[in-house]
Amino acid sequence: MCEKKTFYITTPIYYPSAKLHIGNTYTTVAADAIARFKRLNGYDVMFLTGTDEHGQKIQRLAETKGVTPKAYVDEIVAGIQELWKMMNISYDKFIRTTDDYHIEVVQKIFKQLYDQGDIYKGSYEGWYCTPCESFWTDTQVVNGNCPDCGRPVEKAKEEAYFFKMSKYADRLIEYIETHPEFIQPESRKNEMLNNFLKPGLQDLCVSRTSFNWGIPVSFDEKHVVYVWIDALANYITALGYGTGNEDAYKKYWPADVHLVGKDIIRFHTIYWPIMLMALGQELPKQVFGHGWLLVDGGKMSKSKGNVVDPVVLVNHFGTDAVRYYLLHEIPFGADGLFNNEIFIKKINSDLANDLGNLVSRTTAMIEKYFDGAIPAPVAKEEMDNDLINTALNAPAKVEASINDLKIPEALDTVWNLIGRANKYIDETTPWILAKDEAKKERLGTVLYNLVESLRIISTLLSAFLPETSEKINAQLNIELTTWNSLSAFDGTRAGTKVQKGEAIFPRIDVDAKIEELNKLREEQVKANAVPQMQTIKEEITIDDFEKVDLRVVKVIECEPVKKANKLLKLKVDLGGEVRQVISGIAKYYKPEELIGKYVILVANLQPVKLRGELSQGMILAASTDDDSKLFTVTIPGDLPTGSTVR
Ligand code: MSP
Repeated sequence: MCEKKTFYITTPIYYPSAKLHIGNTYTTVAADAIARFKRLNGYDVMFLTGTDEHGQKIQRLAETKGVTPKAYVDEIVAGIQELWKMMNISYDKFIRTTDDYHIEVVQKIFKQLYDQGDIYKGSYEGWYCTPCESFWTDTQVVNGNCPDCGRPVEKAKEEAYFFKMSKYADRLIEYIETHPEFIQPESRKNEMLNNFLKPGLQDLCVSRTSFNWGIPVSFDEKHVVYVWIDALANYITALGYGTGNEDAYKKYWPADVHLVGKDIIRFHTIYWPIMLMALGQELPKQVFGHGWLLVDGGKMSKSKGNVVDPVVLVNHFGTDAVRYYLLHEIPFGADGLFNNEIFIKKINSDLANDLGNLVSRTTAMIEKYFDGAIPAPVAKEEMDNDLINTALNAPAKVEASINDLKIPEALDTVWNLIGRANKYIDETTPWILAKDEAKKERLGTVLYNLVESLRIISTLLSAFLPETSEKINAQLNIELTTWNSLSAFDGTRAGTKVQKGEAIFPRIDVDAKIEELNKLREEQVKANAVPQMQTIKEEITIDDFEKVDLRVVKVIECEPVKKANKLLKLKVDLGGEVRQVISGIAKYYKPEELIGKYVILVANLQPVKLRGELSQGMILAASTDDDSKLFTVTIPGDLPTGSTVR
């Protein structure tokens, strides 16, 4: 018996630092469709995903929550796994970089690279971007910000281990140039060669000492392994590389495709291949960098309040509607847009109308004209051939598209067949055939051809919309068929009883649903709103500051100002001298609450008259930007009145 061909596909492993959004979901859904298709296509598939759990960012997040990093990631990872279940992700393995076997092998890899001289000890001074876990040089930093994410960088100096990247640069350039399929799409390959490799590779800093949430360097425990070295290794540790049981590694490595977002292609096409070269291992066959999923205003971000939550979409529209949009509407490799209106309209047109109607019309007619039993195709006609050929050609076309990782094109082929089958109904007008008893066999053949087309459609769709495929099969009362059965137009057994069910995609009222979603988004934005800090004023010198004379005073009297409901009149003791101050704090304090308090007075402020009352200074207070809350600044102890504040 000949062994099945293998296919190994990976997604990036996700940082468990925040809830995953529709953009992260996109990568994994795309990988899932490819993995499912390859299984259908007869391959022995290994589909790997997981989580990248170490690093300073995670450590800091855990600290702010007051939990250990492990407890922090455990909770988020469980949420990620839930999300993948909801999205119907058929991964074969989920790796966590906190798994023991992974930690051990990363330590071994690091040691081996050190022993063979590829890693050496030095020291590093540079700009560190914590969210990206990356060091940058003076020339790379843009106005004090990280060139990748735009957030502020911090100066950092550490004793560190370095990886001699430069030693392998020429070999890598040659490899990339002689393997045009290695970095895809093509444009990303040129970017890597021209922007990074050809100008000269710097050695990579591969350890950190400024935090400890990472894999310790086994021979120098105050260092932890740089998170990208730790993370990239997952693609081989997950297969058992270095564990003593390398069966899966031998079977599946090298990976057929590492599917990654374009922001992390550099790590996958420079650092990762060099690591593998240094370890004497084969390079992955392909790294495919897909584009960004953008929302109306551009990139998704919490502060813009435009993060699209896949869970909300699934709850409203179902998993397959979301999968369909991601797989079909985003040109694979380029940036694409997520937009509620386009999304809902696509559900109505492609899923409810084209596919849904084909299924419901076919099953309804079999129930009506044949009591639910699929008729035999005994009265074929010439006019059937175009439908039959379209159906029989579809599998190879889908296969070719998937082999080129052109997922939207693969779905176009399926929808072309769906469209052809709908047109066939219009051409053959079964409701007219049904009026003539003599045409019963012809009517039966037309309906058989429709069911058989649906069988092929449903089988192909099992890779992309698995739940929908199951629903179609349930209504047609057929099992999921194999790839080989797609080569003949006779896979449906006549006599099988169909079971017309509910519409597989109910039509949606576009305006009402958009309104509902917009409302929901507003609520979410409100709930997540992080108060924006006001811009810091222009810089002043210490001399400027010293011009302001701040003093501790005790409030000895306080009363409202007549006919001015915002103002209070205070008498304050300033070390023997009593001053009158008018303050706009009546909304926040009753007069008696202030009496006896030690507050701070701007003592050298030019006196003014407010509503006819003299104000000799100003009381300091802190408030929210919208003035909904305000507190006077008080002194917790009893300093002598008149004491200066510096
Ligand atoms: N942990 C690293 C990957 C290590 S792989 C050895 C990482 N994690 S991530 O959680 O930040 O991102 C995971 C993936 O989500 C990346 O491929 C990234 O490109 C992708 N996306 C994040 N936002 C995205 C969009 N808005 N659109 C499409 N993909 C996006 O990077």
